[in-house]
Amino acid sequence: MKLKIAVLPGDGIGPEISRVGVDVMKAIASRFGHEFDFEYGLAGAAAIRAVGDPFPEATLKLCKDSDAVLFSAVGDPEFDNNPTAKVRPEQGLLAMRKQLGLFANIRPIQTFPGLEDKSPLKAEIVKGSDFVCVRELTGGMYFGEKFESDDKAYDTNIYTRPEIERILKVGFDLASRRRKHLTVVDKANVLASSRLWRKVAQEMEKEWPEVKVDYMFVDNAAMKMIQEPRFFDVMVTENTFGDILTDEASVVSGSMGLLPSSSIGESTPVFEPIHGSWPQAAGLDIANPLAQVLSVAMLLEHFGLVEEGKTVREAVYASIRQGVVTPDLGANGESEYGTEAVGRWLTSWISSAGA
Ligand code: IPM
Ligand code: MN
Repeated sequence: MKLKIAVLPGDGIGPEISRVGVDVMKAIASRFGHEFDFEYGLAGAAAIRAVGDPFPEATLKLCKDSDAVLFSAVGDPEFDNNPTAKVRPEQGLLAMRKQLGLFANIRPIQTFPGLEDKSPLKAEIVKGSDFVCVRELTGGMYFGEKFESDDKAYDTNIYTRPEIERILKVGFDLASRRRKHLTVVDKANVLASSRLWRKVAQEMEKEWPEVKVDYMFVDNAAMKMIQEPRFFDVMVTENTFGDILTDEASVVSGSMGLLPSSSIGESTPVFEPIHGSWPQAAGLDIANPLAQVLSVAMLLEHFGLVEEGKTVREAVYASIRQGVVTPDLGANGESEYGTEAVGRWLTSWISSAGA
């Protein structure tokens, strides 16, 4: 298969994990006889510094002209600590989501055999957890009308029926291909927007009779997720709730550095880790590249390259089994392997008899 990949390394640890992701794709291409072409674009603080725009026109064009985007991370303390900054790196990420129409963010959460003790939750609670959060990504408070002055500010949590229908459809379809259990997470006891979500979901239930649907308030879901994570199969929720719940969900896996995601919608799909740019670690060769690498697996699977995706996942499991992991996953937070070394190990596993 021939694929053109737009690579957006971004900021902080982004470039380091991006290199590992690209190397893994190259190893897959040569092993399975594919042709993947990579072209690089600017995003985030790197783009603000270079051209004054966190998601420049040239990057949008590159994304639109590509089959997929491999994204890493954006964010920089220089902007975080300056509430008056006119442009922020994160706006680049939001612009990309909006301009590519990426309304569905798929965030799979799983535990990795051998890493159960990395979670601060008891191993018997997290063991075998395997669920997917479907997060709406282009609506709600993130994009609703905003107002900001010195003594008053607001964000508008707005959702229209078509926006709700299309994201719920992603949730129902995914649930029907998995364990057929969909949890619609909302705050319908308080929020009007949530009541519309619930109404639309109840109407749509009939189209997927094989899927068992339950409705859960977001505060309750936040508790249930760490009390009984195996309860969940697919959860679907609005933008803000999905943002918060998936950071919480990473605790089930044991490290933010393990969770990949895909964002799909109207234009080119984007594959990215759920973690941020971790600027304090930039250049130190300690960032865990596995979330990026698992995003590559999701990319491959998106294009029907099932065997290739499986090979990437097996390489990841093998590295964990053999203790070839970055310090976040090592015993006592230590490890002799850095980002690059883990990357090299994975690519050679993929290229050699390991697979
Ligand atoms: C995420 C991130 C982003 C979000 C930030 C960086 C704008 O936290 O992808 O979850 O809030 O969506
Ligand atoms: Mn987030």
